[in-house]
Amino acid sequence: MTELEIESNRRDLILRPQEQVDELQRNLEDTIILRDFITDQEIDTLVSIYEKHLDKANTKTTGPTTVITRHFKEDPEFVEIFERISNKLELSLDIWGGNFFDTGKPFAIHNDVDYRHDIMPAKCMVIPLTKTSQTDYVYVTEEDAKFYVFDQTMPHGPVKCFKGEPDRFSPYNTPLSDYKHIIGLHADNRQPKLDVTFNRTWSEGLSVERECNWEPGDVIVFDCVRLHCSSDFTQHGMIRKLGLSLFTKHK
Ligand SMILES: [Fe+2]
Repeated sequence: MTELEIESNRRDLILRPQEQVDELQRNLEDTIILRDFITDQEIDTLVSIYEKHLDKANTKTTGPTTVITRHFKEDPEFVEIFERISNKLELSLDIWGGNFFDTGKPFAIHNDVDYRHDIMPAKCMVIPLTKTSQTDYVYVTEEDAKFYVFDQTMPHGPVKCFKGEPDRFSPYNTPLSDYKHIIGLHADNRQPKLDVTFNRTWSEGLSVERECNWEPGDVIVFDCVRLHCSSDFTQHGMIRKLGLSLFTKHK
């Protein structure tokens, strides 16, 4: 298969077997925030791992510069931090994907599962590392950047949610204009209260399970199948944020 064929194949959502969907839904848990879990020294360590691998970074058309986990997941300093989080959660996890991301644009609604159905996604760990505000911006608060996790899930494949807009492009995830395969959607087309500037119809039928602040030092842990997005932090004087997302499966 050529790269173009692989790319176009990825547009279509292939449904998981029902037993897998049932298992993922059965295992669904509430989002957890480990507050102040990552020390300043560990933040420095993670930022330096990111910087060390910047020569292998991808700059996506959607905004972020990313360094994927393949480049650093064996790094002993990284492994130590990952194991400390897993132990705290009392979970035995392997990493199947993820990345550092340095972005000046908020992320729209998506999930973090793989196209490969032999990977049963478990927890996604999001570790905020830095927030950068405009130098002249004096109204900085911890509420400046939000991270929303929704009640609704998408277990089948990686998606981005653009309800009603079939012509939207997404470089990796399947763009969804139709939400029929999203699980737990509210039939009343409610729009959750979100601090975002994207088209509000994209959030129709969703409800917020957990609203988190983008706080360096915290670890946000949620099921990879859950839809999530960030607020439009650029409305609050912020220009960039650097974070680490880790996608895991049970050992
Ligand atoms: Fe994500």
